[in-house]
Amino acid sequence: MTITSRNPHDPADVIGEWQPAGEAEVAAVVDRAAAAARGWADTPAPARSAALSAAAAALEEQAAAMTGLVIREVGKPRSEAAGEVARGIAILRYFAQAALLPDGDTLPPASPGALLMARHRPVEVTGLVTPWNFPVAIPLWKAAPSLAFGNATLLKPSSAAAATALALGEIIAPHLPPGVFQVVLGGGETARALIDHPGVAAVSFTGSSAVGREVSVRAATRGCRVQAEMGGQNPSIVLAGADLYRAAATIAYAAMGYAGQKCTATSRVIVADPVYGEFRDALTAATEALKVIDPADEKTLVGPVIDAGARSAALAAVAESGGRVLTGGKALDEPGFYVGPTLVELDEPTGPLATEEVFAPVAALIKAGSADAAISIANGVRYGLVASVFTSDLGEALRLTRRLEAGMVRVNAPTSGVDFNAPFGGAKDSSYGPREQGQAARAFYTESQTVLIVP
Ligand code: UN1
Repeated sequence: MTITSRNPHDPADVIGEWQPAGEAEVAAVVDRAAAAARGWADTPAPARSAALSAAAAALEEQAAAMTGLVIREVGKPRSEAAGEVARGIAILRYFAQAALLPDGDTLPPASPGALLMARHRPVEVTGLVTPWNFPVAIPLWKAAPSLAFGNATLLKPSSAAAATALALGEIIAPHLPPGVFQVVLGGGETARALIDHPGVAAVSFTGSSAVGREVSVRAATRGCRVQAEMGGQNPSIVLAGADLYRAAATIAYAAMGYAGQKCTATSRVIVADPVYGEFRDALTAATEALKVIDPADEKTLVGPVIDAGARSAALAAVAESGGRVLTGGKALDEPGFYVGPTLVELDEPTGPLATEEVFAPVAALIKAGSADAAISIANGVRYGLVASVFTSDLGEALRLTRRLEAGMVRVNAPTSGVDFNAPFGGAKDSSYGPREQGQAARAFYTESQTVLIVP
């Protein structure tokens, strides 16, 4: 069963076909990683840091080609694809420096003259299972800390982004000892073989909540550390007194940019009653102003969805929503997998558009009678990744922030477009396990060892 990667803008363009790695091949890859792991763990941090800096420079040299590949393979609009490659370079540089930061604490010992310390040490071999929607940034925000803190690292990317992952491997692996960074291709069977392998000490996953739950259970069953970043159904709350036109432009892009294919995309826009009508018109106009077709064009902000299945699922969710379509709601007459940016007005916060992750350029608009009603609508789903609030009242912003059930809250800012130097993760069904990115990453990719030395 061959895996195939196609251009979502031009489905006749096949980027590559590969044979998935079976259990024996995965075992061989893990063995190579295990053989390299001790040497990499014992490599002094300045040398690991230099290797990541060299990898960053190599990616920078290949930035234009990598941007072109991301546009072609996953249909990401040029401005975002270039931004993602730049983010990938910055992530490698950030973790190159993070490798040099303090790796533990010394503590006052009970015995006279003794030394008591707690240090972080590598877990040795890590397995990363990544999605297609950020084919550079997500593999790197997992691989860079894993490598920086001394682990041999295996990447199993989504088949829909296999060519980008192989290109990343070719750029990064030459700067590391053989076996320290390997890419293994395949679908669910290959991922299961990796997660179940006793030689893999930590698994980091990003993808859907159904798969993330299975990954977490499989890994935990054999005592393997695991983190899973899963879906979102992210609300933006617009209160009276907000700068409505700025909020409309920000939310239109957060909902529709890259065709809404981000776990951080805005899916519900919850608007205070007094400004509802004016805001609905402003958001509709801002949505209709976004350029949709041809991700290679630098003015395009939306682009296609990843495949035909994603397009029909989006249209079905709109048809079953029970709401009024304000704009969009149709497939576009194009060879690529295009859905017109879609706003649906709902009378009740129920149905698929208000409760499930749709992963398409589709958002629901919901009226709220008060700020407290807005909060209860915002919190009324099983997800809790990110929420945003648009207001000019900072006291109200802080009050709502405390009550929002979300791992990340952003005031007067889009739900999408996160900072790689800050912890990333959600509440409720959006995440499982420790946070990723920023300084939070060290806790997952290392384990603490308490050392007491009595003279
Ligand atoms: C972003 O919004 O900058 O899979 C990143 C995702 C998220 C990444 C979002 N983990 O869409």
